[in-house]
Amino acid sequence: MSDLVEAVGPSHVLTDPETVAGYLTDWTGRWHGTALAVVRPADTAETSAVVRACARAGIAVCPQGGNTGLVGGSVPPVGVPSIVVSTSRLDWIDDVDVPGRAVGAGAGVTLARLQRSADAAGLACGVDLAARDSATVGGMVATNAGGINVVRYGAMRAQLLGVEAVLASGEVLRRWKPLRKDNVGYDLPGLLAGSEGTLAVITGVLLQLVHKPRRTATAIAAVENPAGALALAAAVEESGIVVRAAELMTRRGMDLIASYGHRRPFAEPPPYSLLIEGEAAGTDLAAALDAAGVVEAVLEEGSGADLWAVREAHTETIARDSSSPVVKLDVSVPLPALEDLIDAVDPVAAEYGARHIPFGHVADGNLHVNLLDVDPGRAAEVTDRVLRIVAGLGGSISAEHGVGRAKIPWLELSRSPADLAAMRTIKAALDPHGLLNPGVLFGVNSSRE
Ligand code: FAD
Ligand code: MLT
Ligand code: ZN
Repeated sequence: MSDLVEAVGPSHVLTDPETVAGYLTDWTGRWHGTALAVVRPADTAETSAVVRACARAGIAVCPQGGNTGLVGGSVPPVGVPSIVVSTSRLDWIDDVDVPGRAVGAGAGVTLARLQRSADAAGLACGVDLAARDSATVGGMVATNAGGINVVRYGAMRAQLLGVEAVLASGEVLRRWKPLRKDNVGYDLPGLLAGSEGTLAVITGVLLQLVHKPRRTATAIAAVENPAGALALAAAVEESGIVVRAAELMTRRGMDLIASYGHRRPFAEPPPYSLLIEGEAAGTDLAAALDAAGVVEAVLEEGSGADLWAVREAHTETIARDSSSPVVKLDVSVPLPALEDLIDAVDPVAAEYGARHIPFGHVADGNLHVNLLDVDPGRAAEVTDRVLRIVAGLGGSISAEHGVGRAKIPWLELSRSPADLAAMRTIKAALDPHGLLNPGVLFGVNSSRE
């Protein structure tokens, strides 16, 4: 502990149980850990000193950003001597490089702050998600976060130009050039994207920025089924409008969030709705919806904050309404299989006395399966049933939230033995003593649910 105090100063080694408690439970409330301390380094050099001290003492290092992750990866394990390394003080942000369309930021900078900075420079970040006020750019790289604009700009890895990170040895890896093309050997920043804190502590990220669209319009349109939602998104794109987001919602979801006082876009919610944001004037988006045969839609010129509020209310409202921690399964399937997935999960949910409220990034084939009211003792069993359905449809057990602690038992459903062996080899090479985030992505799942 004295090495840690020496590295970051006494006021940044937190051990008071009440203060530390907030770092030990994840956003879903399903995952809890224990830690010797929460340590808050101010820069990369201090982070390196912390990692070296932990390596000497055999103490695990668990990086944490905004703690908005949904798979239990952001909290430490139970019963393994660990510290949480909070990135909250890694909060510097460079001036935006306008001609280079890039910005460098400390890992602990929130997405909302980065967005404000980019916006002031006339640019935007290609990734956006509802947890923007708390999620950090370091955590978003570590999880390769997706969000609402993947259909337009790709996920976080696609925005990453460079990274600064502390390896398990304490050495600092820095690739920091705003180059769009740079093929000198392995893509190590790309490898750290999606590594979930198991290969390095990311201390800074260099992100590409995108041009802001000249105009946007947003609509929520009634559709009969997921195939109808996909066909509508395709029709809008084919009309010449660039689609920025295409989000599926269900009658069940709409009814639930309306019961909490949120806007009800339709007097009678249709079975499914598609929220679509396009780079177009409202009149053009309306014309495209008409041409596609849409009978009911509400449309807002611009970014459609009121309509987005309906979509973004889903996560919190579902969590609030469930009588037990929601079983959240973020999955993807080939586009034609989306409806089969929903149809197959419904009876499984009913068998477990659960309400199934799916929604998600439909154009990416990414559905968020939310099972409410599941008996916590049966959460693993119902997860198994759903993830096997996903695998049977040729899908992935994790589309954007990652593996964390929640999905380790099901890795084999999405990765072959050779693939998993290669991943373990990389882990062993970069973190031979298993110092970084033990129990996340691989190994014994030691956190309590
Ligand atoms: P944390 O939760 O703190 O950590 C997540 C993981 O990254 C952990 O394994 C942690 O160890 C690791 N990590 C964090 N920081 C670092 C670092 N500096 N170096 C190394 N490892 C690190 N996710 C999506 O993909 N798309 C969405 O649309 C989306 N919407 C969301 C909406 C809500 C309301 C909420 C609550 C969550 C949502 N998420 C979404 C999930 C979450 O916001 C993302 O996973 C986000 O990237 C996590 O960032 P964070 O800073 O909170 O990371
Ligand atoms: C979203 O798209 O809103 C998120 O990934 C969060 C969730 O799955 O609830
Ligand atoms: Zn999502």
